Amino acid sequence: MNQSLSIPGRVSVKTGKGGLSYIELRYNGAEAHVYLQGAHVLHYQPAEQAPVLWHSQKSNFETNRPIRGGIPVCWPWFGAHPSDTTLPAHGLARLVEWEPIASDSTPITTTVTLRYPNSEKIRASAELIVILTDDSLTVTLTTTNISTEPMPLTEALHAYFAVSDIHNISVHGLEGQPYIDTLPAVRPLRTQTGPITFTKETDRIYIDTPRECAIHDPGMNRRILVGKENSLSTVVWNPWIAKAARMPDYGDNEYPEMVCVETANCGPNALRLTPGQTHALTTRIRVVAL
Ligand code: BG6
Repeated sequence: MNQSLSIPGRVSVKTGKGGLSYIELRYNGAEAHVYLQGAHVLHYQPAEQAPVLWHSQKSNFETNRPIRGGIPVCWPWFGAHPSDTTLPAHGLARLVEWEPIASDSTPITTTVTLRYPNSEKIRASAELIVILTDDSLTVTLTTTNISTEPMPLTEALHAYFAVSDIHNISVHGLEGQPYIDTLPAVRPLRTQTGPITFTKETDRIYIDTPRECAIHDPGMNRRILVGKENSLSTVVWNPWIAKAARMPDYGDNEYPEMVCVETANCGPNALRLTPGQTHALTTRIRVVAL
């Protein structure tokens, strides 16, 4: 890998779990780890805080396999492929090593940029920019349609957040919004009443949701703020007990430790990029005291 990305005290290239390479970003006591496999932010920790992102102790850490936790990049489709069931769930991005192409530091930011390697094959390019500041982690996924045809696009920055206990947290900011409940099967739209709490497997797409969400976690005395730009869908997911047991890369007893609040464009908010068009999806994560 390109060692010239290194910036003393700010950016270094390291070997992590499973021998995979990652880029460590530092800024004033805050740190983030970005694995090349999947352009995957595995770790984010502001100064004097507990880690904000969660990952499974049973995750694979191998080239060409997705990592369970952190922030998987679901691209250029979210969930099942719309027409070809032989293609992998959540797209191609999380299955390959991305190329780190730039790093930068300023008095207030540390930044790294990675590029999806197989753009020519699919006639779409993607870059992921990760920016660490004193009090935030910002991740932007930029897609460009490099074909001469319109490009359907669904996508998610599928963040897994660490929580003290799923039974005692709540997700705010989606009150009054319509959502697609995919359990036990996809059903007609329902409307969210009050904050979201968790008592069972939860897998929902909140649509037309451009605003910031907050995860209230009294057990950790903190709120995780999940801001967004150019995102109209928010996916909220916890597998609970039975689905956890069915997933080989997820521990049977891990479901209380995490919640996914995903910054997305999917379902009725699917995009269609014209030839040459660029679209940038951003999530911005911050932690504040409760
Ligand atoms: C969520 C989906 O975004 O991702 C869930 O809404 C899915 O249905 C979950 O189970 C995890 O997907 P995967 O492919 O990483 O197991």
